[in-house]
Amino acid sequence: MHYIDIHGHYAWDVDDGIETKADAINALEKAKQQNMTAIVATPHVIPGRQDEKHIVLLKERINELKTIAHEFNIAVYAGCELFLNEETIEALEDHIFISINETKYLLCEFDVRKELSDDEMEVEDRLYEIAIRGYVPIIAHAERYFKGQIDIERIADWIESGYLIQVNATSLLGLHGKTCQNNAYTLIDNGMVHIIASDTHRVQGHRVPNLKDVAHELSKKYDYETVKTLLCDNPQYIIHGQDVVHIEKQKKSLFKKMFGR
Ligand SMILES: [Fe+2]
Repeated sequence: MHYIDIHGHYAWDVDDGIETKADAINALEKAKQQNMTAIVATPHVIPGRQDEKHIVLLKERINELKTIAHEFNIAVYAGCELFLNEETIEALEDHIFISINETKYLLCEFDVRKELSDDEMEVEDRLYEIAIRGYVPIIAHAERYFKGQIDIERIADWIESGYLIQVNATSLLGLHGKTCQNNAYTLIDNGMVHIIASDTHRVQGHRVPNLKDVAHELSKKYDYETVKTLLCDNPQYIIHGQDVVHIEKQKKSLFKKMFGR
C-alpha cells in the first residue's frame, strides 16, 4: 500500500515545523521510506499575525519543496493549518489561508491547550463561518482537544455538519500519552475518522513521517479496507476535491461483548 499525508509541516523555516532545507530533504527521504507518494505541506497560519505577503512566501516555499520532492517521486501540494482564533473571520474575508490544493478542503485547528468546552460556541461559530464560505473544515488532530474522554456526541455533530475528522498517526502510536491514544482509537471504532496524517514537524523524534508505521499497527486491529480508506483513499479524494467515504463503525467481537475488552 502507498500512503498520502495531508497534514505536515514539511515546508522549512516558516513555522515551528521543519527548520532547514537539509531537514526538509531528510523528511522527504523518510516519507519515501514510509511509502508516501504525495504530501500536502500545511504550515501554520495564525489569523491576525500574518498577511497576504506571508501567504505568498508560504506558496513560494512549498513550490521549492515540490521541486526537491520530484527527485523522491513524491507529489507535493499546498495547504495550511488555519488556527481558529478571534481574528478568523477577517482572515477568511482577506483570504489569508491556503485550502488544500485549492480545493474546498481547509485544514483547521484550535488551541489544544484549552479545554474545548471553555469556548465551545466560539469554535462552532468559526467552523460555521468557514462552511458558509463554501469550504469544508477538516478538523486537525480531533483526538487532542479533550483532556479526558472524548466527547463523541460533539464529534458526531461536527460530522453531521459536514466537517471531516483527521487523527494524528502519533496519537495512535501512543506518543502523546494514553488518553490521546484511547481517544484516537475510540474515534476509529465509532467510524468517526476520515483521515489519518503524520503532522510531521521534525526529522527525528516523535512527529516524523510515520504513515507506514501506523498502518502496520492498525492492520492488527482493523481490516485492510479501513486502513486504506484512512491513509490512502480519502487523502487522495481530498487532494482532488472529491467527496470522501466514511469508514464503518467497528463491530464488537463476541470476546469484547462478553469480557468488555
Ligand atoms: Fe499541524
